[in-house]
Amino acid sequence: MPVRQPTPEDRFSFGLWTVGWTGVDPFGSASRPALDPREYTEKLAELGAWGITFHDDDVFPFGSDHATKERITTELKKTADAAGLTIEMVTTNTFSHPVFKDGGLTANDRGIRRFGLRKILQNVDLAAEMGASTFVMWGGREGSEYDGSKDVYSAMERYKEGLDTIAGYIKERGYGLRIGLEPKPNEPRGDIFLPTAGHALALISELEHGDIVGLNPETGHEQMANLNYTHTLGQALWHDKLFHIDLNGQRGLKYDQDLVFGHGDLISAFFTVDLIENGFPGHPDAPKYTGPRHFDYKPSRTEYMDGVWESAKANMSTYIALAEKATAFRADPRVQEAVEYAGVLDLAQPTLAPGETAASLLADDEGFDPDEAAKRDFGFVKLQQLAVEHLLG
Ligand code: GCO
Ligand code: MN
Ligand code: MN
Repeated sequence: MPVRQPTPEDRFSFGLWTVGWTGVDPFGSASRPALDPREYTEKLAELGAWGITFHDDDVFPFGSDHATKERITTELKKTADAAGLTIEMVTTNTFSHPVFKDGGLTANDRGIRRFGLRKILQNVDLAAEMGASTFVMWGGREGSEYDGSKDVYSAMERYKEGLDTIAGYIKERGYGLRIGLEPKPNEPRGDIFLPTAGHALALISELEHGDIVGLNPETGHEQMANLNYTHTLGQALWHDKLFHIDLNGQRGLKYDQDLVFGHGDLISAFFTVDLIENGFPGHPDAPKYTGPRHFDYKPSRTEYMDGVWESAKANMSTYIALAEKATAFRADPRVQEAVEYAGVLDLAQPTLAPGETAASLLADDEGFDPDEAAKRDFGFVKLQQLAVEHLLG
């Protein structure tokens, strides 16, 4: 069955650096031309996207003076407005220029840290000017290759200092921005600080201005750490910290592939979309993710321009197809029966009765027979097979 066309109501958005990636990798030069950021913007609107996002350096050259930045970003905003696209997120490039080779906020060199922080703060102003609601921070160069080269205690102190300075500035200026930290375990550094969503959440809990700092988890980054992306989204939602998402595909523990969404672990992508669209089965009133469906992928280096646009479309149509399948999955009586048999909804019930204490729990074993209880069949495999059958159509 053909998938319907994406519309702005779907709230799909793309980084300009995604379709704008020219195919430069550590082993080869560009395999296609770089277009003007405004051309990507117009094309994405034509394909049915709702929003765009970018790094400062995606739109104006590193080191541009104020007037140049102003001129280029005003033009871009005009193009986005004319195309009906929202600039929903802006992020800072603190990784490409060699000055950031040892990081921005956590570089050993204090002058570089001050420069990095200034670059980020200037970009906060730009994000607000562009009308963005999220300010992503991916600390790609924050980390090390060699353990002796970095004092991790100091690195955490500087990360906290940097984040609090930026979040404090956002509040002081009255910008409606929230920061989304993007975890990644490695690449380009051998080991990156805040390698997983859990590490990032732990740091956020230590911040003075942590209320406006949350997460921007990326599918492939969690999977590069051998973790379950859907669980990451679920826990982030539980903490009320899922501020933004980067959807893409990854096949196993290797370099960051940034494949099209669904081109990695398809069944995991199915349950990711199910969570985003349908929420938690046992908690219909729990917070749902309502932000943009943002894709952070790279059109493979083998593709020329037609392939770039095809790959952009592929992200959206896969998402739409999975959303339709997830809705059908949840509505299927066989699935509802399997969900009940599996006890999925029973987990929502508190383990203790109202007013019960540890002492009262200990006082009565209720004649519970673990050997009998161990005979329970959960039917998780049957439930999974139903998901597979829905996926296969
Ligand atoms: C990566 C990252 C980056 C960040 C982006 C936002 O592929 O390692 O996803 O693309 O998302 O730079 O700052
Ligand atoms: Mn990535
Ligand atoms: Mn990303």
